[in-house]
Amino acid sequence: MRMYDLIRKKRDGQTLSKQEIEWIVRGFTDGSIPDYQMSALAMAIYFRGMTSRETADLTMAMAASGDMVDLSSVEGIKVDKHSTGGVGDTTTLVLAPLVAAAGVPVAKMSGRGLGHTGGTIDKLESIPGFSVELTEEQFIRNVNTIQLALIGQTADLAPADKKLYALRDVTATVDTIPLIASSIMSKKLAAGADAIVLDVKTGEGAFMKSREEAFALAKAMVDIGTELGRKTVSVVSDMNQPLGYAVGNALEVKEAIAALNGKGAPELRQLCLELGAWMLVLAGRAPDREAAKAQLQELIETGAGLQAFKRFVEAQGGDPAVIDHPEKLPQAKRIEPFPAEADGYVSRIHAETIGTCAMLLGAGRERKDSPIDLAVGIVLTKKVGDPVRKGEPLAMLHINDESRLCEVRELIRQAFSVSPQPVPRLPLLYGVVTSEKTERFF
Ligand code: URA
Ligand code: CA
Repeated sequence: MRMYDLIRKKRDGQTLSKQEIEWIVRGFTDGSIPDYQMSALAMAIYFRGMTSRETADLTMAMAASGDMVDLSSVEGIKVDKHSTGGVGDTTTLVLAPLVAAAGVPVAKMSGRGLGHTGGTIDKLESIPGFSVELTEEQFIRNVNTIQLALIGQTADLAPADKKLYALRDVTATVDTIPLIASSIMSKKLAAGADAIVLDVKTGEGAFMKSREEAFALAKAMVDIGTELGRKTVSVVSDMNQPLGYAVGNALEVKEAIAALNGKGAPELRQLCLELGAWMLVLAGRAPDREAAKAQLQELIETGAGLQAFKRFVEAQGGDPAVIDHPEKLPQAKRIEPFPAEADGYVSRIHAETIGTCAMLLGAGRERKDSPIDLAVGIVLTKKVGDPVRKGEPLAMLHINDESRLCEVRELIRQAFSVSPQPVPRLPLLYGVVTSEKTERFF
């Protein structure tokens, strides 16, 4: 086989075979196929697309390019959840203990964050003592005994994807659905998932700006999962404002604890119920989504979800007292309200700008090795549609380092719009894609 011929084949709109795709991924991973040829192929894929079979073959080949996590010694159907990313998205911290409490084994691999706030690991590390340094044995044992464990992503998870993503990033070939879908799904497969629930975000603060693109990505990932024998469901949800109130590491842990207590941002709770319900259905723990939702609601009301979170924190060396006393989490030195400049209704909260502000306060990493401040960030006090009076706070800034505070204040001013007329609330869920059908709620 020659890479030249395969690039030309795709350039001319033909379909690559499974053997050809496997050969390409192998060669690219071991360095025998140079970056310039892989870049040319990525651009050909950008213009010509891929069939769902080609996309599934690419996914499997990238998943198999490094370590494949073996979860066969974990009892039950392992369901993983993935979000395409947003601002103030604390769902993993709520969902993992909640579905674990329902008996679904959660064997989770997570990453650290780059950008507006930390990743799930950074957030959990704001709990004193919490560690993701488990041996493989401890990891499996914890999942089998308390249904939940979380470790850091191994360096060798889908290395072909890592290399290809870096190349796409500098060759204007990131935003093409077959490459995004295979990139995300290859990591889920390598991490050992039997079934996958995807939260595809759409809106100004999301990767997929338009709803059409979001549904197309949602469907592409369900098609890959189905092709590869993994039950997969995609939920399409809103990212035209931050999901919850909190953006910042310890602040989001606090918000997750509130959600497990049945309190906090209604959007966060509603999305967790929707995603969690699908996780229960795919794990065979509930007959349908309505029954699953009722079950999860019950686990919140009885406190069973919160207890599961406490067991999980304790099992990984964290101080379980933070669950009942969230004030034990790192606290910022100063909290400053950001007041509304006029009476009216909140008409817009630019999610990406809020994320940037949290990062400038120190909650996120500007570079891969920047230190982060776990205590700081932003807590919204209003969401789109809420009435507000002049002088009333729109958000609270949790501050330690004041060096970029002026910049933050100015950005926050730009992030909010207040309209004199009433404004409708934003929808949260746009639809669901399963292997059987695409359901649109609007
Ligand atoms: N996230 C990924 O993991 N891969 C992509 O290609 C895009 C977003
Ligand atoms: Ca976040």
